[in-house]
Amino acid sequence: MRIDIISVAPNLLESPFNHSIVKRAQEKGLVEIILHDLRTYGLGNYKQIDDTQFGGGAGMVLMIEPIATCIKKLQSERIYNEIIYMTPDAKTLNQSTANTLSLKENILILTGHYKGVDQRIRDKFITKEISIGDYVLTGGELAAAVLVDAVVRLIPGVIGDEQSALTDSYQDNLLSPPVYTRPAEFEGLKVPEILLSGNFPKIEDWRNEKAYERTQEIRPDLLKE
Ligand code: ADE
Repeated sequence: MRIDIISVAPNLLESPFNHSIVKRAQEKGLVEIILHDLRTYGLGNYKQIDDTQFGGGAGMVLMIEPIATCIKKLQSERIYNEIIYMTPDAKTLNQSTANTLSLKENILILTGHYKGVDQRIRDKFITKEISIGDYVLTGGELAAAVLVDAVVRLIPGVIGDEQSALTDSYQDNLLSPPVYTRPAEFEGLKVPEILLSGNFPKIEDWRNEKAYERTQEIRPDLLKE
């Protein structure tokens, strides 16, 4: 998979992609992540990328020309399965969207800043808009980092133990059951007996039951979906 990201602050994205699983996925050649500095496509000597809003109002808006030039250049080099705009005024990211995106070949992500981008960019180029939650960040970079992390770990071969991604919270609209490791007892706190029993069908039942109970208590909305 190839992921291109257009940003006014590409440096913000270097660290999240240069560690741990996402880094290893790139080293294994399972994903290629390429950052594009929007400023490079800015207008005039000052490389202008934003301007005040028509109609008045606080906050700058990212201009249409620099973004359109950058997107068109990338589109001339390959076909993108999705061109995604990270914005708080969109549907919230969920596991199902991450699963779908993990199967794509080329994804282009545009991150906003200030008041956002000129609406015509959204109308003309964007195929999917994603928010990572009902709160506003200073820019879309951290949101893009969250999206890329959620997607990359699902690409076949990225996580060694395939089972591990399949049993995550949300994979079947349930939160994960509690997990334990050694020691079996710590200051009087015991690991549930069933997990030490070696009876794997019973353990599976117990885990399903706990996952259901936890979901019922914390996220009952998931059970309605
Ligand atoms: N940009 C600013 N806030 C955001 C959010 N919550 N999700 C996605 N992009 C954003």
